[in-house]
Amino acid sequence: MIIAIDGPAAAGKGTLARRLAAHFGLAFLDTGSLYRAVGAKILRTKQDPRDVVAAQGAAENLSSDDLTAPELRTEAVSEAASIVAAQPAVRAALLEFQRNFARRPPGGETGAVLDGRDIGTVVCPEPDVIKFFVHASLAARARRRFKELQARGDSVTEARVQQDMDERDKRDMSRGIAALKPASDAYDLDTTGLNPDQVFQAALDHIQRTRA
Ligand code: DC
Repeated sequence: MIIAIDGPAAAGKGTLARRLAAHFGLAFLDTGSLYRAVGAKILRTKQDPRDVVAAQGAAENLSSDDLTAPELRTEAVSEAASIVAAQPAVRAALLEFQRNFARRPPGGETGAVLDGRDIGTVVCPEPDVIKFFVHASLAARARRRFKELQARGDSVTEARVQQDMDERDKRDMSRGIAALKPASDAYDLDTTGLNPDQVFQAALDHIQRTRA
């Protein structure tokens, strides 16, 4: 069983993906953390995320330590991740790892849940993959991200978080490769006004319907 969850930032993909993985006993991969790790590595080594050669080098040499770097969730890394994610060489370097994870989960699980932007369209487009497109209004998503950052002690304003998120989403949606869009066979899940339990239940209902 492979579940692909795509959508814009802070739409609730990660929470849903983790819950579905725990419920069905599947491996879980947050593919955004791969692009974040590339962005963080570039910033740490004082290189420019727009430098295509540097970004490709970082993507081809990711280690497991890079994936757990403490700064991965900062706004600076979010911005760098969005820039490197638009580069074809970076995406090519990360593609096989994601496909292998889905088809041969590292812990021997019977399947996997992957969340990102292009899982249902590029990484796992096959028709046997259960696909979700999870989204919410920009205001709802910015509020969620703002609360997360605030809880971590980051001094940001909600308006700034919303503006930056909007810019990054537009970059993700308009790039020439693996742009963020729903797969034609994805189930549309609007999480505006839903709590995590309601989102989980809606996803479970859909999975049960497709497997009936
Ligand atoms: O989901 P996230 O915010 O952690 O993603 C970080 C960046 O990586 C974001 O700009 C989108 C990009 N990304 C991508 O292009 N493809 C994926 N499968 C996952 C994330």
